[in-house]
Amino acid sequence: MQASHVRLIKILFVIIAIKLFIVLVLFGYNNSVEDIPEQSMVFIDELLVDKSDEPSWEQRLALIRKEMPSFPLEELHRRPLGEPKCGKVPAALGIDFSNDYWQTLNNANLTYHIFGAYYDNREKMIEAPLVRVLTMINHYGKRDVVKHPETFCQLWFRNRIEPVVVNVTDYKIIWIWGGGSTMVYPTLLSCCLPKTNDTKAQEAPEMVSLVTKRCDKARNLVRVVYEPDEASTAVTDPPQQQSKQNNSTQLQKKPLRFMVCVKAMDFIYKDLSWRLIEWLELMRLLGAGKVVFYDAQMHPNMTRVLNDYMETSPGFVEVRPLSMARGEPHSGPHFQHYAMDADGFNRILNEMIPYNDCFYRNMYKYDYIGVFDTDEVIMPLGNVTKWSDLVELAYRVPDYERETWKCDEWASFCFRNVYFPSYPERPKVYKKLPGFYYMLQHVERVAEHCDRYAAVKCLHSTRYVIGLHNHFPLFRAENGECEAKSVPIKYAQLQHYREPDNKTRLIDPIIDDSIWRYQPLLQQRVYAQYERLGFLPSIQQVLTAKEQRRKDDELQLKKAISRV
Ligand SMILES: *[C@@H]1O[C@H](CO)[C@@H](O)[C@H](O)[C@H]1NC(C)=O
Ligand SMILES: *[C@@H]1O[C@H](CO)[C@@H](O)[C@H](O)[C@H]1NC(C)=O
Ligand SMILES: *[C@@H]1O[C@H](CO)[C@@H](O)[C@H](O)[C@H]1NC(C)=O
Ligand SMILES: *[C@@H]1O[C@H](CO)[C@@H](O)[C@H](O)[C@H]1NC(C)=O
Ligand SMILES: *[C@@H]1O[C@H](CO)[C@@H](O)[C@H](O)[C@H]1NC(C)=O
Ligand SMILES: *[C@@H]1O[C@H](CO)[C@@H](O)[C@H](O)[C@H]1NC(C)=O
Ligand SMILES: *[C@@H]1O[C@H](CO)[C@@H](O)[C@H](O)[C@H]1NC(C)=O
Ligand SMILES: *[C@@H]1O[C@H](CO)[C@@H](O)[C@H](O)[C@H]1NC(C)=O
Repeated sequence: MQASHVRLIKILFVIIAIKLFIVLVLFGYNNSVEDIPEQSMVFIDELLVDKSDEPSWEQRLALIRKEMPSFPLEELHRRPLGEPKCGKVPAALGIDFSNDYWQTLNNANLTYHIFGAYYDNREKMIEAPLVRVLTMINHYGKRDVVKHPETFCQLWFRNRIEPVVVNVTDYKIIWIWGGGSTMVYPTLLSCCLPKTNDTKAQEAPEMVSLVTKRCDKARNLVRVVYEPDEASTAVTDPPQQQSKQNNSTQLQKKPLRFMVCVKAMDFIYKDLSWRLIEWLELMRLLGAGKVVFYDAQMHPNMTRVLNDYMETSPGFVEVRPLSMARGEPHSGPHFQHYAMDADGFNRILNEMIPYNDCFYRNMYKYDYIGVFDTDEVIMPLGNVTKWSDLVELAYRVPDYERETWKCDEWASFCFRNVYFPSYPERPKVYKKLPGFYYMLQHVERVAEHCDRYAAVKCLHSTRYVIGLHNHFPLFRAENGECEAKSVPIKYAQLQHYREPDNKTRLIDPIIDDSIWRYQPLLQQRVYAQYERLGFLPSIQQVLTAKEQRRKDDELQLKKAISRV
């Protein structure tokens, strides 16, 4: 009994000892966890804010120039001292601004909305040298019939106190289809410089004001754009010089230069960024040296695509600011989109502004300028794949349905429209090609081309064209050239990636895979852009999307069954 008692005590002791040990170990362990040296509080003295210097005055001027391209702040600041005897340069804030990019002149009962001014000393222009002022005016009529109140241009030259004052001698209304008095109409004003013997050497004015009396102090002042081709020694286009010396088709010597102007991009809710990439890469393959867009409002992904092009291919893509003329507030993008939609006629009239601004800014640097939307492609056919070869060919081929044997030169070469609809219900033509190559996949088109005037697009010669409308030039030099030639569809066509207005035409499409002549380069370049910009989903994202689709289908099925 005694012995067993002692044994029990011993066992108890051992148990207690073990427990104590465990507790100690645990305690020690816990201690070791908490045994981090006491954290000392770090006082951060600085935040991640921008510490760069303020921009210099020159940098600020450049930033303002970008914001308001027509406002000549830089030119104003370098005016020579002294009071002109006639007229006076307005102060920077003595200008009647409207909607950021416009200035206003009230002239009798009319309102002139001024967007820009351009120096034109092109060889073929009979009135040259002159300054063309691009405006919207609430006055419509036929040219030479329509009367405008007397108006003067005060032309301000660098380092000269006195302006040269001339009458506005011409109003070219870039619209010929009528309209009411509540609208504003795109109008090009001519301010001809006094002729001197050596017109080519004539200096371009820096700024221009419109006034109703010769020596008035103006309340508007716009920069005169004059950007001759720096790379070329001659002011006029060298290929054209060559063509003059030889016969008109001898254009091969210097490669022709092409660019594209696109109207205001109004794609706020629909992400067409991927289509934009494919279109831009095709423009590049066709020979476009530059594509200029005007920004109305775009989906952030589209803005991202264009910003990326501007960074990686400097000079190839340009995006310029724009607003509407008539007085609609240039507010945020959602309202702007609404306003463009709410008055379609006003929107269309406003489209002439980007087209003509783009044309006049670039006419000395390019030989042909195309005006397209991002769903349109002038496609050379047969063995021709470049616009330069196409234009050379266009000189020689007959004019569609017209005799033009008398002509050596044409204002523009135009190409007939043919629709490539989306055909969402039809199976893919190329089963193995992903659907994200839109034009490469959509090779089915309607059978018939539109006629000569319906929805054509052209390549406009910068030697001859004066006033541009979406589809053809409304004004040209009329100095030896003929009006636009319609190139037969055997040689090229305008591929238009949208639905035809006439739905009967949707029936019996035909396959037209002319675009595959740009393969594999087109696909490679588009893919590379998708990849770089992060358009391609990861495997995980693809699987998740598949799973989600399966769930959605199930849900729909259940709903359908429950309804039965
Ligand atoms: C301006 O006045 C003229 C002549 O009275 C008239 O024909 C024209 O319609 C008026 N224009 C506007 C915009 O009121
Ligand atoms: C220019 O305006 C002046 C003054 O009103 C006028 O006498 C002259 O005839 C005008 N010249 C032209 C070419 O229209
Ligand atoms: C312009 O040329 C003509 C004839 O060549 C000459 O008589 C006249 O003096 C010249 N005018 C100027 C301003 O140089
Ligand atoms: C241009 O072509 C015409 C007719 O084909 C020819 O008579 C003339 O000599 C050519 N001129 C040049 C400079 O080649
Ligand atoms: C163009 O004309 C010049 C002389 O008029 C001649 O020397 C040259 O060879 C011609 N070039 C072509 C491509 O015909
Ligand atoms: C296309 O073919 C024609 C006729 O065979 C040829 O004259 C022309 O030079 C070719 N054009 C191009 C760009 O290869
Ligand atoms: C629509 O297209 C069909 C087929 O080309 C043509 O026969 C018809 O006249 C067109 N309709 C209209 C209204 O243009
Ligand atoms: C496009 O926009 C969507 C929605 O904002 C965004 O999730 C996606 O990442 C964007 N794609 C690219 C390539 O930036």
